[in-house]
Amino acid sequence: MKQLFTTLNNGIKMPMLGLGVYDMYKKEAEQAVLDALEIGYRLIDTAALYENETEIGNAVIQSSLPRDQIFITTKVGDNDQGYDSTLRAFDVSLKKLQMDYVDLYLVHWPIKGKRKDTWLALEKLYADKRVRAIGVANYLMPFFEELNNYASITPAIDQVEFTPWLFQKDLLDYCAAKKIQLQSYSPITRGKKLDDPRLVKLSEKYGQSPAQIVLRWNIEHSISTIPKSSNRKRLQENFDILTFTLSKEDVALMDSFDQQFRICDNPMEML
Ligand SMILES: NC(=O)c1ccc[n+]([C@@H]2O[C@H](COP(=O)([O-])OP(=O)(O)OC[C@H]3O[C@@H](n4cnc5c(N)ncnc54)[C@H](OP(=O)(O)O)[C@@H]3O)[C@@H](O)[C@H]2O)c1
Repeated sequence: MKQLFTTLNNGIKMPMLGLGVYDMYKKEAEQAVLDALEIGYRLIDTAALYENETEIGNAVIQSSLPRDQIFITTKVGDNDQGYDSTLRAFDVSLKKLQMDYVDLYLVHWPIKGKRKDTWLALEKLYADKRVRAIGVANYLMPFFEELNNYASITPAIDQVEFTPWLFQKDLLDYCAAKKIQLQSYSPITRGKKLDDPRLVKLSEKYGQSPAQIVLRWNIEHSISTIPKSSNRKRLQENFDILTFTLSKEDVALMDSFDQQFRICDNPMEML
């Protein structure tokens, strides 16, 4: 099955669908990445915090796929934010991944008092060509307003929690206008909303699972998405969203599911 790509604001290509590897440990992470690569995934989203960068690197090596065919994202952890400490943390991540560059390096959280120095460190890594793109995570509008005061580079990505139950139209529109690619995390609400009767009805209508309908909703909005699974059957199921589409009316219907429901912390607490 063919992957779907987006072109980031610096011209590089990134798969729209990837595998998130939070909450996977050691051999589980390694096997999930190997399975995902075999199925056709070409984007892996990890972070220093997930403590599995070594296993992700192992799986990439074992897969025998050329490095430039796989898009690797990792993130600077909260305790490492700041200018010099971010540069040091990047070196540690790269060593664990056993790579000489990463495709995308993200600020994991908008940590108060650290945001500017951390971003400037990412700009340095980009200038030194050690990363192909840099971006942020958990940035909502006020954080971008602040970033605009000191950034020389517009983030390529904003990775945020984004689902039909947490539909943030202002952020979606802002990112589209600034050519910042939105990427959704916890896209299937860790399973918590998959029994929503409105979703179940759509699942029956399309003959696709509730998770597939939710993931496809992202693609219809041009949002990149990184569902986590360490189960081969569900990895395949999630990848199969590239084979069907949703009608405009049903996408709009799902937009109306919004109830500001969150799995993770609200980034506004960092303001
Ligand atoms: N930047 C950030 O601050 C941030 C925060 C949170 C997450 N993330 C990233 O986003 C990724 C995804 O988010 P997430 O892990 O929080 O949650 P998620 O992808 O919404 O949900 C993962 C859960 O759903 C299950 N699942 C997977 N596919 C399924 C399917 N087709 N049907 C039913 N259940 C399914 C998984 O179980 P099985 O493994 O058993 O299939 C797992 O328990 C993370 O792995 C991480 O890479 C980033």
